[in-house]
Amino acid sequence: MAQLMCEGLCVGYDGKAVLKDLNFEVAAGDYLCIVGANGSGKSTLMKTILGLQPPVSGSVIMGDGLQRKEISYLPQQTAVQTDFPASVREIVLSGCQGRCEGRPFYTRREKQLALESMEKMQISLLSKRCYRTLSGGQQQRVLLARALCAARKILLLDEPVSGLDPTAAAEMYSIVQKLNDRDGITVVMISHDISAALQYASHILHIGETTFFGTKAAYQAEFPPIWRKEGEVQ
Ligand SMILES: Nc1ncnc2c1ncn2[C@@H]1O[C@H](COP(=O)(O)OP(=O)(O)OP(=O)(O)O)[C@@H](O)[C@H]1O
Ligand SMILES: [Mg+2]
Repeated sequence: MAQLMCEGLCVGYDGKAVLKDLNFEVAAGDYLCIVGANGSGKSTLMKTILGLQPPVSGSVIMGDGLQRKEISYLPQQTAVQTDFPASVREIVLSGCQGRCEGRPFYTRREKQLALESMEKMQISLLSKRCYRTLSGGQQQRVLLARALCAARKILLLDEPVSGLDPTAAAEMYSIVQKLNDRDGITVVMISHDISAALQYASHILHIGETTFFGTKAAYQAEFPPIWRKEGEVQ
């Protein structure tokens, strides 16, 4: 059984659909990339999967023993989020909150996990710095390190490389790939970078006027490069 199943799902706001009739599923170990034009509803879909936004109709079903607290989420970055008055370490460690289950302190194991996540994201030297004094790319790494602490089965990433330079973006993709390959974490990533999506993903969900869901190979067969533009299907 898949970990996530979306059946006849319509997502939107105040009863008005932004995206209609989505049918797809995500199984353990999959790496799903969601691609589509600006404003097509990708972030809304991710929030609906997380239960942060109610579906307009249809359903999101969790299977394979998945619990909501085992899903971790890196939201699309907004100006408000860049202003936390906390240290890098505190923010990364707060990714362990879902593991605390009411306990008012972090265990040694959780502190170790935060250190490892900072090492993976190469931000250990920034650990005492105040988050809001960092550059956009550094802040993005901190938020990913936080999401790494929370990720137990599924990592949902909304444009994780936006604001990163090409080298940092490549490192980010490589870290996410290792989590998927080595640690067996299921990845659902929203991306505007079709070539990266095709390099790393096992499945593609293309949303917009044309909706496609299937394996990467099926996507490439249906939409050869000549018909494919960045972020949209012709
Ligand atoms: N809180 C909200 N209330 C009402 N409408 C919203 C809200 N948030 C987003 N929308 C609208 O829903 C549509 C889809 O927005 P969404 O943020 O999901 O798009 P997206 O595909 O993630 O775009 P981008 O690639 O720019 O991040 C847009 O038309 C947007 O204006
Ligand atoms: Mg978005």
